Amino acid sequence: MTVPPDLDMRYPHCTVPVFFADGREPAELERAVIRPLAPDRIALVSDANVFARHGYALEALLAQAGHVVATVVLQPGEETKSPEVAAEVAGAFCENGLSRRSLVLALGGGVVGDLAGFVAGIYMRGIRYVQVPTSLLAQVDSAVGGKVGVNLHDAKNMLGLFYQPAAIWVDTRYLATLPEAEYHGAFGEVLKYALTLDATLYERLAALPAVAAVRGDAAFNAELVRRCVARKAEVAAADETERGLRRVLNFGHTAGHALEAAGEYRRFCHGEAVAVGMVVAQELGRRLGCVDAAWAEASIACIRRLLPAPALDGLDAGALLAAMTHDKKWSGSRRCFVFSTGPGRHRIEDDVPAEAVAAALRHVLAADPAASAWV
Ligand SMILES: NC(=O)c1ccc[n+]([C@@H]2O[C@H](COP(=O)([O-])OP(=O)(O)OC[C@H]3O[C@@H](n4cnc5c(N)ncnc54)[C@H](O)[C@@H]3O)[C@@H](O)[C@H]2O)c1
Ligand SMILES: [Zn+2]
Repeated sequence: MTVPPDLDMRYPHCTVPVFFADGREPAELERAVIRPLAPDRIALVSDANVFARHGYALEALLAQAGHVVATVVLQPGEETKSPEVAAEVAGAFCENGLSRRSLVLALGGGVVGDLAGFVAGIYMRGIRYVQVPTSLLAQVDSAVGGKVGVNLHDAKNMLGLFYQPAAIWVDTRYLATLPEAEYHGAFGEVLKYALTLDATLYERLAALPAVAAVRGDAAFNAELVRRCVARKAEVAAADETERGLRRVLNFGHTAGHALEAAGEYRRFCHGEAVAVGMVVAQELGRRLGCVDAAWAEASIACIRRLLPAPALDGLDAGALLAAMTHDKKWSGSRRCFVFSTGPGRHRIEDDVPAEAVAAALRHVLAADPAASAWV
């Protein structure tokens, strides 16, 4: 008997079932997701942090059900998302006899999911894979939508594919072991959905005193993840390859990526950078008359409360703008900006004037107490 998924992501060429595991037994991952795929072998790909906490149990569960499992445990961290490690993982698949009937199981955060999905997409011209995201960022964002890839030196996600998983298994119980900073950082993405696509989620977040208040709240996390996945599923299914509506997911990422690059990917974590990027977008929207002043203020206050701004001293608006202009994704998309125009509402504008962007950047940098003496 097949177990129905909680959500079907419908693309023109395939349907991806999503299972929310809260309320289900862990063994259902094997029964409902893996067994029906009838793989001849399974490669369980994870990183050392996640494997130590959750990998052994999953490995044992698969072995008990009679699967032949090869385990590939990677070093945690963004450096792992490289062509070199991808080649090593493909080599391990080969050594363990993975065939076109085999299955890759990606157990981990966005690094593991992006890398394992990428290797699955190119190994023997593509074998099946299942996403089992364990970080909040992977559960609300990276495991959903079919974008997989690796970095090429400093160029993020330069090698990649749109390659959909055979299924996505989202278990918020994994979040119990996620470090606090990782949980908090993912609220950059959570706020992105709330401000542009989900008014109900915005109301819930606007009522929170701080992110720490809900970290251990299993019911809140389950609801949070379900809402974000549902929103991403709608957007990605409507526009798989990011030519139209899916661009809404870049809210806060345009200036956010420039900030990450300016900090050489060490100074700011992704969530902090996206938070500043969302503030820049709302300030820019207000200046361009796309966002009304009261909502710009309310949305910025909510972002600032849940993701306090990092110190921005030493940053230069001109250099950030130059970084954005060099970002092929931004210039290639006709300098498009996404604004939140109300709770759960958005507007996408093309050909945003560079001078207005520079003015909004200057304003946000100057509002930083650590930077005011400098700007
Ligand atoms: N494919 C997409 O659409 C997409 C979207 C957004 C981000 N991304 C990518 O995702 C990556 C970031 O993902 P991430 O934030 O999950 O980073 P990550 O995979 O590095 O995980 C963050 C840290 O948390 C640890 N961890 C994960 N789950 C854990 C758990 N349950 N218990 C204990 N530790 C755990 C990991 O070992 C790691 O140290 C980036 O490479 C980014 O480019 C991809
Ligand atoms: Zn992001």
